[in-house]
Amino acid sequence: MEWPISASINKGLEGAIACESKVGYVDGVNGHLVYRGYDCFQLSDFSTFEETSYLLLYGKLPNNQELNDFKAKLISYRELPYEVFDALRLTTNINTHPMISLYMAVGMLGAIDEKTEDISVANQEEIAIKLIAQISSLVAVIARIRAGKKPVKPDSSLSHAANFLYMMTGKKPDAVTEKIMDIALILHADHGMNASTFTGMVANSTLTDMYSSIVAAITSLKGSLHGGANEKVLYDLEEIGGPENAEEWFKKVRETKRKVMGFGHRVYKAYDPRARVFGPLVRFMVEKRPEIKPLVDTATKLDSIIVRELAKEKKIFPNVDFYSGLIYKAMGIETAMFTPIFAASRISGWTARILEYLPKNRLFRPRAVYTGDIKLEYIPLDKRV
Ligand code: ACO
Repeated sequence: MEWPISASINKGLEGAIACESKVGYVDGVNGHLVYRGYDCFQLSDFSTFEETSYLLLYGKLPNNQELNDFKAKLISYRELPYEVFDALRLTTNINTHPMISLYMAVGMLGAIDEKTEDISVANQEEIAIKLIAQISSLVAVIARIRAGKKPVKPDSSLSHAANFLYMMTGKKPDAVTEKIMDIALILHADHGMNASTFTGMVANSTLTDMYSSIVAAITSLKGSLHGGANEKVLYDLEEIGGPENAEEWFKKVRETKRKVMGFGHRVYKAYDPRARVFGPLVRFMVEKRPEIKPLVDTATKLDSIIVRELAKEKKIFPNVDFYSGLIYKAMGIETAMFTPIFAASRISGWTARILEYLPKNRLFRPRAVYTGDIKLEYIPLDKRV
């Protein structure tokens, strides 16, 4: 019999290195985020979600022809199979968390795709592109069903970001709103070996299919310590009820040792660069939607309190989830849909990293330090107390 191994444990795999990657880099000390060598600020200024997805998948910026072909393919995949509408209509209502609807629907896409079990790199890559297009469509349909409205057919004349908003809200966005959604999609697209990416990669390393791996990733993104935080931030801001209550609220939260949603990060020990973009964007959005001003003022106040109280001692700053939800709120989107929107973007990073790992795949399989008994004598049922 093998005896317990003794080893030091990095709780939560902190600092553990799982693989090499060229997809993206998080500089947690200085607060920088890089996709395939390009700083995320350059991409949010000049790129589009379509181009950034190509960059993540193929490792280079596309030329004109490559970008047009890629966009055309994404557009061709926007329509969803009718079976998925039926399944969503039967299972989705205001009480179902939309992330559950989303992973069920992605599983359904896998169930009806005749090529799901072809796990060649070429076929997985095709499914990746299909999912980049279709997760946005799924999120939009889920939002419509939740709101008791009819799904909206995709519009092939619109960009990915504009079509996503159109399918969700039923209205074609103005150019500024389209650009802001595009920036949000770009900045959420990849982020190192975060929990959902790792979950998807672990699943795919067993040589399961791409749909199943993405279902796994979505289940992981749902949690409030990860992507689910963007939804929880809004509930916290509503609970605070105004900037004048923020100091008192924070004092109580500290006393109960409750974590403040949208703050802190395993890797960033500086201000999250994505929050640096989203903070000012949210304040800009107030001009378009003045009714969100109290929430934005509360967020700004909470940001300053936490940076004042926790930045020096614990290196806690706002993360991507703190301001992103307010952006979607300003676009008139339901709070529960914030994390599914995150998934509609992160699908690019999930699939890029899964595809990068696949050709040199090795099963992920860590160990635990066994701390239980090892030599107990079996006790028959009638002798147990
Ligand atoms: N509010 C208050 N205190 C915090 C917070 C927070 N948001 N985050 C960390 N801390 C404190 C912890 O209480 C702990 O203090 P202690 O040393 O006195 O016990 C210390 O900072 C370290 O915290 P850990 O939880 O060990 O740090 P970890 O690296 O495991 O956590 C995490 C990272 C999960 C993101 C954490 O900061 C957190 O729970 N944040 C709130 C949820 C959130 O916003 N998640 C989204 C992250 S971004 C993303 O995934 C897209």
